[in-house]
Amino acid sequence: MTPIPNLNIVPFVSVDHMMKLVVKIGIETVLTDLAAYIEEDIKRWESFDKTPRIAAHSVDGVIELMPASDGSLYAFKYVNGHPKNTREGRQTVTAFGLLADVGTGYPTLLSEMTILTALRTAATSAVVAKYLAPKGADCMAVIGNGAQSEFQAIAFKALLGVKKLRLYDVDHAATEKCMRNLAGLGFDLVPCTTIEDAVQGAAIVTTATADKQNATILTDNMVGAGIHINAIGGDCPGKTELHRDILLRSDIFVEYTPQTRIEGEIQQLPKNHRVTELWQVMTGQAEGRKSARQITLFDSVGFAIEDFSALRYVRDQLQRTRLYQELDLLADPDDPRDLFGMIQRSTANLAVA
Ligand SMILES: NC(=O)c1ccc[n+]([C@@H]2O[C@H](COP(=O)([O-])OP(=O)(O)OC[C@H]3O[C@@H](n4cnc5c(N)ncnc54)[C@H](O)[C@@H]3O)[C@@H](O)[C@H]2O)c1
Repeated sequence: MTPIPNLNIVPFVSVDHMMKLVVKIGIETVLTDLAAYIEEDIKRWESFDKTPRIAAHSVDGVIELMPASDGSLYAFKYVNGHPKNTREGRQTVTAFGLLADVGTGYPTLLSEMTILTALRTAATSAVVAKYLAPKGADCMAVIGNGAQSEFQAIAFKALLGVKKLRLYDVDHAATEKCMRNLAGLGFDLVPCTTIEDAVQGAAIVTTATADKQNATILTDNMVGAGIHINAIGGDCPGKTELHRDILLRSDIFVEYTPQTRIEGEIQQLPKNHRVTELWQVMTGQAEGRKSARQITLFDSVGFAIEDFSALRYVRDQLQRTRLYQELDLLADPDDPRDLFGMIQRSTANLAVA
């Protein structure tokens, strides 16, 4: 579907429009529909051009470019990760991205992706948990109650029916914020004072902490048989959340192995340690959860196809919602070869005016 007939005008979804889109459609519906787009694209994994993201590391963080194409559409996301930012009143993660038509090379959508990344990360986590979490799981521990946390909670409620949340953050103010934001949304919320307490009785443990180091958020003794770990915070070289022993006891599922070996929890393991890619599970070529006592681990780092799907989803909402601005992004001379003449004519027009 091409929502905008004039190819030279590029629709732009601002932060304001993205918020209105979420409110208009409803966040649970957005997350459910987004999860369906992501699942559909992951299932056609082999039709995508894939590459690990291109990362520029610095002392304080990372800036990354994430491209993907299915031969018909091309997408990329610009995203950063700077854990110290929140101390200065800024986001840890911000992003924007673009969708383009492979046939012409013309951009067809430019969008904010800070909110969209939180939505797509949560939708991915939840759709993956459909394949890996124990049947009937209704209680989740959320360790790290920052920007991603509410999105994760709502996605797990929408897709799996998880209603009991056990919340922990090293900064109690973050847990209070999370409790406030989720109040009245149908959750049974329990604030916890330690991680040991938070994981009690949880069938799913989500770790979403931000720290630029090899942290040990979960130690081996905290992880009982049969749980599903949704580890989203370890997503950079030298930035992990789980003790290595947990990895050795788990069946590990990843998005795109070449990227996760560099960035995920498995950077702690030998390069030949066995992992299963999600597309194999989603297409029935590999098993997800096999037994009630198995520990499954989604070693999430975030992959470009999830952003491709998210941009595709937003594009498909434009005609219905009209929540975008028209950007004069592409030069459009009457004669395509007369780019210079277009400037001359514009200066002549300016002189007249
Ligand atoms: N896998 C993905 O696709 C993906 C996508 C987006 C973000 N992320 C990552 O998820 C993490 C969370 O992102 P965010 O935007 O919510 O960050 P944020 O800075 O808003 O929140 C992180 C929270 O973790 C808490 N924290 C830090 N150390 C902790 C510890 N030892 N124990 C408990 N809590 C601790 C902080 O107090 C903070 O509240 C980041 O590391 C980010 O890079 C991953």
